[in-house]
Amino acid sequence: MTLNYQVRPGGALTGRIRVPGDKSISHRSIMLGSIADGVTHIGGFLEGEDALATRNVFRALGVRIEGPDHGNVTVHGVGMRGLEAPAQVLDCGNSGTSMRLLCGLLAGQNFDCELTGDASLRKRPMQRVAEPLARMRAEISTAEGGRPPLRIMGIANLRGIDYRMPIASAQVKSALLLAGLYARGRTCVTEPAPTRDHTERMLAAFGYPVERKGSTVCVSGGGKLTATDIEVPTDISSAAFLMVGASIAPGSDLTLEHVGVNPTRTGVIDILRLMGASIELLDQRQAGGEPVADIRVRHAELKGIAIPAEQVALAIDEFPVLFVAAANARGVTVLRGAEELRVKESDRIAVMADGLQALGVAAEPTADGMRVTGGNYGGGTVASHADHRIAMAFAIAALRARAPITVTDCANVATSFPGFVELAAKSGLRIKQN
Ligand code: S3P
Repeated sequence: MTLNYQVRPGGALTGRIRVPGDKSISHRSIMLGSIADGVTHIGGFLEGEDALATRNVFRALGVRIEGPDHGNVTVHGVGMRGLEAPAQVLDCGNSGTSMRLLCGLLAGQNFDCELTGDASLRKRPMQRVAEPLARMRAEISTAEGGRPPLRIMGIANLRGIDYRMPIASAQVKSALLLAGLYARGRTCVTEPAPTRDHTERMLAAFGYPVERKGSTVCVSGGGKLTATDIEVPTDISSAAFLMVGASIAPGSDLTLEHVGVNPTRTGVIDILRLMGASIELLDQRQAGGEPVADIRVRHAELKGIAIPAEQVALAIDEFPVLFVAAANARGVTVLRGAEELRVKESDRIAVMADGLQALGVAAEPTADGMRVTGGNYGGGTVASHADHRIAMAFAIAALRARAPITVTDCANVATSFPGFVELAAKSGLRIKQN
């Protein structure tokens, strides 16, 4: 039985809401808490399937983890060398972040293990982490085409490397830094463009020295992490759906509370502002080493833009819903340099272009992006291809459609945004699921 959304056209988004916890930070809080000395308390943890997959993996590695209970998780850290050989294959579900970061963390253990995932994850490229980790002497074998399942041989004598990443990927950077904790000498990663830096920030919060110089970040092996308390902000990537919804729907005035506004994640705000959106950051503050703010979004007339190249990595998960913003803008919006979108939970360029075209939007996919001409559009049935962010993007599109939109195969929204339907409906989206 697949889960579908039925969304009636029209409506406005209003009120004050809090979206669930940040997915990237939730994964890292379990990982670092597990290998720290002492007990880590986490608040605001994302109770979504991806973060729970990471929790389950660390339980299988012998870590006692309680919760989440209303977002509270307690991790009884086992120290750098305390993880145990798992009795089963480690299942990362739909989560690329779990799998790629685990490759780095598990490569330097003294036991072997196997990682797998769902049908979508089993299609995603893992060579991007396996290849640089091999240079550190890790032994990781993949299935055909560099895809999962992965077999990781525990190698107790990894060595540090200097690695210049060919793609801007926080997952690759994080995998190498986590392996670097277990390696002899220094591991340095240089990125071609800034990517989310939650791993670096959280390592520092756990008392692990991290050196940053320009676009290079380094760790030296052999240190230890000390348990700490982590307050997870809410996820700007989830807030983004409602930010776009409030921007495009006349009469909207929505405040999103306690959103993580780390500058390596705020591309969506900068891009929407360039398009003419009305977005205010209120009460900016720090929580657990991360900047947070309340975000107030009011309806505004949007205009098409050429999306600046330097924003691509800073908004990488937000393009499905940014294409919906583009469909509602005056003129043409062009995205280039975003070929990474083709290897996310689905091929987000192809799947978004197909869906937008099905609604009557002039959307032309290119090898590394899309060209979208804004205008009126109708309703119809759109396939999400089991990609959570595609499903939510098309639900938001209904705010300005001329007829109802049905989005199929939406169960995976629970990977990142449990309670999306209820929260969006409470804000004014005319959505039902069946
Ligand atoms: C993530 C990094 C990004 C992003 C993913 C989460 C992370 O992937 O798309 O949803 O938590 O490090 P890439 O690093 O592959 O771009």
